[in-house]
Amino acid sequence: MKKLYFFDTTLRDGEQSLGITLNVRQKLQIAEQLVRLGVDIIEAGFPVSSPGDYEAVKEISKNIKGAVICGLTRCVQADIDLCAEALKYAENPRIHTGIAVSDLHMEKKLHLKPEEVIDLACACVKHAKTYCHDVEFYAEDAFRSDRNFLARILQEVIKAGATVINIPDTVGYATPWEFGELISFVKNTVENIDQAIISIHCHNDLGMATANSMAGLFAGATQIEGTINGIGERAGNTSLEEVIMALHSKKKEYPFALNIHTREITATSSLVSRITGIPIPYHKPIVGPNAFKHASGIHQDGILKERETYEIIDPATIGASQNQIILTARSGKHALRHKLFELGYRPESNQLDRLYGDFIQIADQKNEIFDQDLHTLMNSHPGH
Ligand code: KIV
Ligand code: ZN
Repeated sequence: MKKLYFFDTTLRDGEQSLGITLNVRQKLQIAEQLVRLGVDIIEAGFPVSSPGDYEAVKEISKNIKGAVICGLTRCVQADIDLCAEALKYAENPRIHTGIAVSDLHMEKKLHLKPEEVIDLACACVKHAKTYCHDVEFYAEDAFRSDRNFLARILQEVIKAGATVINIPDTVGYATPWEFGELISFVKNTVENIDQAIISIHCHNDLGMATANSMAGLFAGATQIEGTINGIGERAGNTSLEEVIMALHSKKKEYPFALNIHTREITATSSLVSRITGIPIPYHKPIVGPNAFKHASGIHQDGILKERETYEIIDPATIGASQNQIILTARSGKHALRHKLFELGYRPESNQLDRLYGDFIQIADQKNEIFDQDLHTLMNSHPGH
């Protein structure tokens, strides 16, 4: 089985979200939990961006063991020097350097000719190699770049020593089949591609980051980048927990070896949400508060008979408590009986009709029925 590397950038791209500023202690706490989750690489920050980021990368390098610790740089020698300084205590350091490769970015943002971009990219990779063996090159805005130019620059940076090449969809513009095609193109066109790991890094502007990532993995990438809860610039990055569980649920289609401890997903997601102050949307796949709740009568009845009728993942797999049946005005008699049994009541089936009638009257006036409501209901029907 092929090894798949999980590259977590919650502390770098995730922290670039509007409204998030983490201190060193908070970043260390998240990094410790990411190791428990089993990610392979932690991108700890962008050292040149601020003294706080530099300090965080340094402290994570000193204190966090069990994962590669990575720092981001622009294609600027001084960035690389500072990043190497921050990473110097890491057991396994990685420098992640790169430059934009689309015509739009090269012309309007960098004011550089394509040949100049190639020269700069190679010089930076070579400079980073003087500090550490493990150098990842990102081709920013790769999805909107000219394909032949992309293939050329990737070939040259691999020659210069890049061990991982990152193909980002920086502005979340791809669809799954387009992104899969791009990865196939890179795999089939870049002559020395076997000397590097292909990494994918998707953004969620069109809501397709997870689907694009799955397509990229199907096409041959072996490193996936993303953040916990999908936090990140604008609409965010690929949600790592979604990719983990998609791979876990589809082992036959995606036969990868993973280091991930899925039971740590809920704890990791809650910690990131609590520390960043970014709430998890109700309907967020895998970790949303509603992700394992069943409110309609037909679904509740099915779940009580056989969990798999309406659940593709056992909540225990991600460390969440077992499915929670929420009683509402749409719940049926089966669900009411199940809840009452959980609370220690044993109504006879001929009493259940009357109880259910009263229950519906209460439920019609509330969004959700709590245990206390059921105790009140049962107090008005003594003898159970
Ligand atoms: O989205 C992007 O292109 C990035 C790179 C800096 C890796 O975050
Ligand atoms: Zn990004």
